[in-house]
Amino acid sequence: MTAPLLEVRHLRVEFPTRHGTLLALDDISFDIAPGEVLGVVGESGAGKSLTGAAIIGLLEPPGRIAGGEILLEGRRIDNLPPDQMRRVRGRQIGAIFQDPLTSLNPLYTVGRQLVETITTHLGLSAKQARARAIELLAATGIPAPEARVDQYPHQFSGGMRQRVVIALALAADPKLIVADEPTTALDVSIQAQIIALLKRVCREQGAAVMLVTHDMGVIAETCDRVAVMYAGRVAEIGPVHEVIHRPGHPYTVGLMGSIPSMDEDRERLVQIDGAMPRLNAIPPGCAFHPRCPKAFDLCHVRRPELMPAPATTAACWLHASEVNEASTSMVGPAGGGDHHGARAAMQGDVA
Ligand SMILES: Nc1ncnc2c1ncn2[C@@H]1O[C@H](COP(=O)(O)OP(=O)(O)O)[C@@H](O)[C@H]1O
Ligand code: SF4
Ligand SMILES: [Mg+2]
Repeated sequence: MTAPLLEVRHLRVEFPTRHGTLLALDDISFDIAPGEVLGVVGESGAGKSLTGAAIIGLLEPPGRIAGGEILLEGRRIDNLPPDQMRRVRGRQIGAIFQDPLTSLNPLYTVGRQLVETITTHLGLSAKQARARAIELLAATGIPAPEARVDQYPHQFSGGMRQRVVIALALAADPKLIVADEPTTALDVSIQAQIIALLKRVCREQGAAVMLVTHDMGVIAETCDRVAVMYAGRVAEIGPVHEVIHRPGHPYTVGLMGSIPSMDEDRERLVQIDGAMPRLNAIPPGCAFHPRCPKAFDLCHVRRPELMPAPATTAACWLHASEVNEASTSMVGPAGGGDHHGARAAMQGDVA
C-alpha cells in the first residue's frame, strides 16, 4: 500500500449561530492515495463542499474546523497560518469550482494569471513560464494557445474558461486537485469532455483528485473510489465498482437508483422518499433511519460508525456482526452463520 497523499481524520466543522452551534461535518475520515481519483457524492447539503473547503483552507467564517485533522503527505495542514496555507494551496493543492469565473481575474489575461502562478511557485523565468502556460493551455485542449494566452477570461466561452481554470489549477504541478462540481455550470453537451479532460491531465501530471459531484454517471466513469455523504457524515466508501454494483448502505442503494439507465430511452429516476434532515434536526441513531426501507429498532437509537460491509465500508447496522449474530439466533438454525441469509430474513425482501 502506498502511503496516503491526503488523510482526513475525524474532521468536524461547525457554524456558531444565535440558536446554538450547528455541526455541519461530524467525524469525517477518508484518505486519498497519490494519483487516485476519489469521487464524493450525496444530496445537496450533505457536506461535500464544506469537506473540500476545509481541505483547501477556504472555509468561510463563521464556519470553522472544530476537531480532527487534515494531513498532506503526513504533514498537518488544517492548523497552518493563512499565509502558509495560501502557499500550500497554490503549490500543492489546486482548486476547481463550479463557476470558472470565481477562479479567474477578469482584469488580467489568462496568460498573466498562469505565468504569475508558475513563477511564484515553480521559480521559472518569465519566458519559461510563458512557454509552460502555452503548454498547459494546449494540454487542456484550447485551440491556438499561442494566441489565446494573451486574451482575457471574457473572451472565452464557459467550457473554454473551465479549461483555463483546470490549466491554472495544474500550473504549479500540485499533488492534489479539489474539484467541486466542476461542470455543473456548463452546457450539458460539454460536461463529459471537461470531466474526461480533467481526468486525463491529472493522470498525465500524476495529480490525485477529489471530485465532488452529484452526478453518479460521472463518478462511474471517472473515479477509482467513491465516498457517499449523508447529513455531514460518510455513509459509505469503497472502490467505485463495488459501491455502484454492491452497495452496502441503503442510502447508496437509493442513490444508485437515480443513475440514468443506458438501456432505456427515458431516465429512470428512483426517488428516495423524504428529504435529508437539516443540520439542526438530525435524527438520533442513524440519520438516515426515517427514510430507510431497512431500518430496525437499533437504528433509531444508536448511531452506526463505518464498518466493513461485504464489498465496501458502510455506516449501517446491517453489517454489524453483533446484529447479524442476534438476528441469526432470531431466525433459528436455518440462518446459522450465513450473514446474508440472516440479513435477508431480518429485513424482508426489500428490493
Ligand atoms: N455559512 C453557513 N452557515 C450555516 N450553515 C452552512 C453554511 N454553509 C454551509 N452550511 C450548511 O452546511 C451543510 C453542508 O453544506 P455543503 O457542504 O455546501 O453541502 P453540499 O456541497 O453537499 O451541497 C448544509 O446543510 C448547509 O446548510
Ligand atoms: S443503520 Fe439502519 S437506518 Fe441506517 S441505513 Fe442501516 S438499516 Fe438503514
Ligand atoms: Mg456543494
